[in-house]
Amino acid sequence: MKIMHVAGARPNFMKVAPVMMALGRKGGVRQFLLHTGQHYDANMSEIFFSQLGLPSPDLNLEVGSGSHATQTAQIMTKIEPVLTDYKPDMVLVYGDVNSTVAAALVCAKLLIPVAHVEAGLRSFDRAMPEETNRIVTDQLSDLLFTPSIDGDDNLRREGKRREQIHLVGNVMIDTLVRLKERADSKLSPQQVAEQCNIPAGMLSNGYGLVTLHRPSNVDDPIMLAQIIGTLLELSRELPMLFPIHPRTRHRLKDLGIQTDGARLFLVDPVGYLEFLSLQQAATLVITDSGGIQEETTYLGVPCLTIRENTERPVTVTVGTNVLTGQNMNKLKSSVFSIINGDARKGSVPHLWDGRASERIADIIR
Ligand code: UD1
Ligand code: UDP
Repeated sequence: MKIMHVAGARPNFMKVAPVMMALGRKGGVRQFLLHTGQHYDANMSEIFFSQLGLPSPDLNLEVGSGSHATQTAQIMTKIEPVLTDYKPDMVLVYGDVNSTVAAALVCAKLLIPVAHVEAGLRSFDRAMPEETNRIVTDQLSDLLFTPSIDGDDNLRREGKRREQIHLVGNVMIDTLVRLKERADSKLSPQQVAEQCNIPAGMLSNGYGLVTLHRPSNVDDPIMLAQIIGTLLELSRELPMLFPIHPRTRHRLKDLGIQTDGARLFLVDPVGYLEFLSLQQAATLVITDSGGIQEETTYLGVPCLTIRENTERPVTVTVGTNVLTGQNMNKLKSSVFSIINGDARKGSVPHLWDGRASERIADIIR
């Protein structure tokens, strides 16, 4: 059996790694890893291949950045001859990025079966570009692997057949379970801080870990300035470490925001093991990332999500996630509640047990 995996952006790599390993253990499967090149900086792509034990991509389409239409179209144009040539029996696509939907569209026209890993998630917010990617990818997919039961419900409501939908659990958590000990033992948060040139001891009495990259937060200069102003204010109580996504880095540069002298530390994106180490020891995490809402839930670390909605509702109903919306007063009061010992106590959602990829491999083979 010939399987092609399509990955392109940072959160894809944590998802593809365990599925490739599980399929490899089955035997009888030839696997081809295609990197679209959507993300290309070393700290957004290359670093994850060595840390996660991924093989080098068999091919990188090197599409780079562009508008949604440009990026999606380039991936489609460049992937079509590869698919025609390689003739996979099935293509696996991951998550909700432009690379995901672009590959699914081309496969659908070439009548190549598509399996969507992380199917069924819905924010019900069409202003979010990923929501379109999720809906279209699921409509085009033959096999739908969901991380939580809400995914099954959404897909059934949208007319997908019961036999196409498989509740397998969360593959991103498979990677976390596999590498948690390594992150714990190899890299303390203090060591990561040192690597990031943060003054010694700055994180030893607790810290907040921040990531932001949603267009709704960072592409609107007023919103971004409000968030940074709030983080600066909060950093007087709790130092904040903020590994900055390149989209956000560009926007901050445009705004000319300075944080010199404050305890809000803006650093480059860090590797997976470094970020996992930082998450585990954080007092709290402030984010708008999809994957980080899930990882904090698994780790039991309080998470404040600067979004009005989430496509990952179990992180709120079962886990440690609180949606603050874009309300900075709510963000501040939530941070103070956590500092004062009143954090949401969550538990780990059903099937987030490190074995989702094995279930996927059992279904595919
Ligand atoms: C993309 C995904 C988003 C996902 C995020 C994960 C889509 C529509 N969006 O958002 O769902 O949550 O990745 O991180 O697919 N850039 C660089 N270097 C890079 C990559 C990007 O400098 O290696 C800069 C470029 O200026 C680019 C901008 O970041 O224009 C945005 O990149 P893009 O891939 O379009 O979207 P993300 O915001 O990264
Ligand atoms: N991550 C990382 N380094 C960082 C920030 C995040 O390795 O500096 C990891 C994080 O642990 C998670 C994934 O990147 O596994 C989430 O990706 P991202 O937030 O870019 O995308 P999203 O999940 O929002 O689509």
